[in-house]
Order: sequence, then C-alpha cells, then structure tokens
Amino acid sequence: MTNLEEIQRRRTFAIISHPDAGKTTLTEKLLLYGGAIHLAGSVKARKTSRYAVSDWMEIEKQRGISVTSSVLQFDYNHFHINILDTPGHADFSEDTYRTLMAVDSAVMVIDVAKGVEAQTQKLFKVCSDRGIPIFTFINKIDHFGKDPFDLMADIEDVLGIRSCPMNWPIGINGDYTGIYDREKKICHLFVKDNAHGIKKLDVISGAIDDPAIQSHVSPEIIDALKNDLELLNEAGDPFDREKVAHGELTPLFFGSAMTNFGVQTFLEKYLELAPPPENRKTVEGTVSPTDPNFSAFVFKVQANMDPHHHDRIAFLRICSGIFEKGASVLHRQSGKMIRLSQPQQFLATERQIVEKAYPGDIIGIFDSGELGVGDTVCDKKSPLTFSDFPVFPPELFARLSPDSSMKRKQFLNGVNQLAREGAIQIYRRPYIMESFIIGAVGQLQFEVLKYRLEKEYNVTVRIEPLEYTCARWTKGNISPDKLIGTDNVMVVYDMKEQPVYLLPNAWQAGWFAQRNEDVTFLDTPPVTTVDE
Ligand code: G4P
Repeated sequence: MTNLEEIQRRRTFAIISHPDAGKTTLTEKLLLYGGAIHLAGSVKARKTSRYAVSDWMEIEKQRGISVTSSVLQFDYNHFHINILDTPGHADFSEDTYRTLMAVDSAVMVIDVAKGVEAQTQKLFKVCSDRGIPIFTFINKIDHFGKDPFDLMADIEDVLGIRSCPMNWPIGINGDYTGIYDREKKICHLFVKDNAHGIKKLDVISGAIDDPAIQSHVSPEIIDALKNDLELLNEAGDPFDREKVAHGELTPLFFGSAMTNFGVQTFLEKYLELAPPPENRKTVEGTVSPTDPNFSAFVFKVQANMDPHHHDRIAFLRICSGIFEKGASVLHRQSGKMIRLSQPQQFLATERQIVEKAYPGDIIGIFDSGELGVGDTVCDKKSPLTFSDFPVFPPELFARLSPDSSMKRKQFLNGVNQLAREGAIQIYRRPYIMESFIIGAVGQLQFEVLKYRLEKEYNVTVRIEPLEYTCARWTKGNISPDKLIGTDNVMVVYDMKEQPVYLLPNAWQAGWFAQRNEDVTFLDTPPVTTVDE
C-alpha cells in the first residue's frame, strides 16, 4: 500500500455526548462490529463485574463516569480506525476539548427520548468552532422517544445545524423493528434476541416491496414509512459532502447501541463518509498529511495507566510524515531532540508496540517528564509548532497540602505528574514549601486529584477552597515588583515559573488591569516556544 493510501484509509474520530446518552455503549459496539472484541459487556454484566473496554481507570468504575479519554484502534474493511473516547462529565470538559483537537470528525450521540442536552450543546460548539465535521447517532430507539421529525427540528433549533437522515426507523415509536437505508433503499429488520446486545444481531434485509420484508411488517407501517420517506425526499436536505465538511449539515443515523440496532450500517456508512486526515494549521503555515517530514502534537498525558508500572504515556496525534519506531524528533518546546521509544498502539484489550504509524494515527510514547499537553514534536529539518491548542482559564482555586509531612516526596512526585498530565494546574507560592495552590475548571477535578494521589501515590491530602475565581498572567514575563496593587492579590508561580495573579472576581481583575494599564493581562498562560 502506498503512503497516500495509508493516509486515506485512516479514520480518527471522537464520540461525544451528554452523560448517559450511550457513548460508552456505542464505542463498545463499534469494537464488537469492528471485530476488535467478541463479546460486549451486557447491561447486567457491566453493573457487576465487567466494565466497558474503554473504562481504564479505577475511578471510572467507582464513580460510573469516564474521567479520561481513551484511545482505541482497530481495522474494519479496509479502514484503519482510531476512536478517541471522551469523558462526558461537564467538569472534564478540558480533557475532552483537548481530545477534540486530535480528531478529524466526531460522532454526536443523542438520546432519542431527551434530544439535544446541555453537554451535547457545549461539545457541539467546540467541534463547530474548530470546523470538525459532525455525524449524529440518535440512540436508544428501542425505547419510546421523540418523533424523528421533532428531533431534526430540535437539532436545528438548538444547535443551528441542518440534518440529513441517512436512515429512518421502521415501525411504531417505542417498538421500532428496523431501519431503512435511504441511499441503498433497503430495509434492515432486526431479529430481536435475548442476548442484551452481547452478540451481533441477525438482520433481514430487502427492498421495501420485497415479500420477505412485507411478511414481517404490517401494511400500515410500510405506508407510514413510505409517507415519511416521501416527505424527507421533498422537504429534507440532500446529503452534501461539502456541507458536512463545513459543518453546515450533519448526517443523521438512528439506532440503538444497546440492542445493536443499526450499529453495523452506521459504522460502514460513517467510515465511508467521514474525512481522512486533512491539512492542519501551525504557527509556520499549513502542514499537509502528505508532507514527508514527521510532525505530531501531544493532546494528552496520562500517568499510571498501568498501576503496576508507574509509567507516563504521552498520546501523540500524527499530522504528517511517517513515524518509525525509535525515531529521534525535535521537541519544539524545549528545543531538545528526543527518542520516541516503545511507541504503543492501543487495541481493545491490550497495548502493542507499533513499528510504523501514519498521519491520523494516535500513538502513546513512554515519557520521562519532557512532554506536556499541547507540545509539538517534529522532524528537525522542518520545525513547526501546533499552537491552536485550547487552554481554559481556571475558575476554582484551593490550597493543597499532604496530611503528613512524612509523605512529602510522594506528594511532590504525584502532584507534579498529575499537573503535567493537565489533570490540574499547580502554582507555587514564594517561600512556602509545604503546600501548593491548585486551579481547576470544575470541582470534580479536585476530587479526582485527591483520589488519585491517595490511590496512585499513597498520599492523603487536604484541599482547602480559596475565594479566588480569576487568574491573570502577563504578556512578557514582568516581575510582580513592577506592578501596582498586588497587596490584595495572591501572587503565585506556575510550572514555567511565570508569575500568576489570583483575584476574587472579574471586577477586581479589571481594576487591577486598569491600575497597570501599560501591561497586557491574559486569562490563560502565554504560549511559548524556544524561538521566542
Ligand atoms: P455514556 O457513556 O454516554 O455516559 O452512556 P453509557 O454508554 O454508559 O450508557 C448509559 C446508560 O444507557 C446505560 O445504562 C446503557 O446501558 C444505556 N444504553 C445505552 N445504549 C442504549 C440503548 O440503545 N437503549 C437503551 N435502552 N439503553 C441504552 P445503565 O443502566 O445506566 O448502566 P449499565 O448497567 O448499562 O452500565
């Protein structure tokens, strides 16, 4: 296969949803149909002993939420798929947003009974702001839910995007028996089993007037289907690849991840329509996936994925060139050459060393502490910097200290590692050694930090909330002595030793800025590279 063919067969995407819409179940079913796993965890089994394959961390099992994004890879037909699972909980939006930087398209899962929910709306906005094409999977059609036309209106009203149904449910709301493929003009009727979706479903397929179909579906239902299809053909938007690519249209699929209804047809159609890796912006200009020089960026760093080995893995999204095991690359942020040793690929149930990887692929690299979220690694012949990385202003601050001073070493080690992962922001106060100030976007980040320090580093900690809600950095590294009005402001230093000013509210931050009008204040850390 040529390199271009390898690139063209890559599909790298994320599944986004409001919690409980069925993202984890759908991910698992895509793996089942993709042949990456042979049995999906059934509803009951998941509650007791088994968990979704993508739930790696202990905490996810305990709290029932996905805390970190996982990466799963498999081949299906001739496609090479990288699925990036994203945490659904609102507090983990930062991690989710970063993950979305690494995808070429996204699947938005909507619960048929609930329609567009709050978190879906936020995630949709991030995708559309970044020009990520979105495909929609209306899930749980085995249950009674909203009328399909009402859902289309909901998507348009709330998200401001037109939708184009690629398939349509057959039957009575609450008791659909199949779906109709609008392009192929074929009905797929699902043979219900009692296996709770553990195994693939049997399907009866045929044209609408095929006697095999008509013997299973009443004439009233066939008539109702024909009416709906006529209406869609006359008044609906036709599928338009350009509009999908520009975020003006979302292809819509109906199905049920739990019972496997429509999962296979969705997977096949999605792979056919979703875009392969495309050009990406850098500070130095656009980089094409076909550019022979290697480039990639880190979108996630995860410590302790395997609790038996205290390892740190940096997840890289390859944007151009071909990655070969053991390659030495330029780390843009430090200016140092680093060897990408033991590159890992993440299969459904195991990791594997990867020998070669192409644009679109996600690989994990063991990191000894150099790589941070948002960093670029590239061929030294053609240095470039991926800069458009979202950083979110922290809004919650607290003092973090270990319960026992005997555990200081583990405490420092754990806090530093988790901060490098981007799990939390840490700040140091001058002359104060025994505690840190921590910043987060959501309260749950604090709880997860506490839990992980205890579980992974064996340190119990105290987290005392502080009344600050705003952090300000300055453009250019200006010493706090040069600023007016710092008496009422807490001055701390971030991991890059840049001064940060913590203020109780936006009004005070504005007032502080007014008093120092020749200084530019930023609400996120300034982006730096070694050239600056
Ligand atoms: P999430 O990752 O988006 O948060 O959702 P998840 O897949 O964990 O699904 C949330 C709940 O919805 C689960 O039930 C799951 O079984 C159920 N679900 C997913 N897809 C479908 C579907 O197509 N039809 C129906 N009826 N239910 C579906 P749970 O009882 O909360 O948990 P569990 O015991 O299944 O883990």
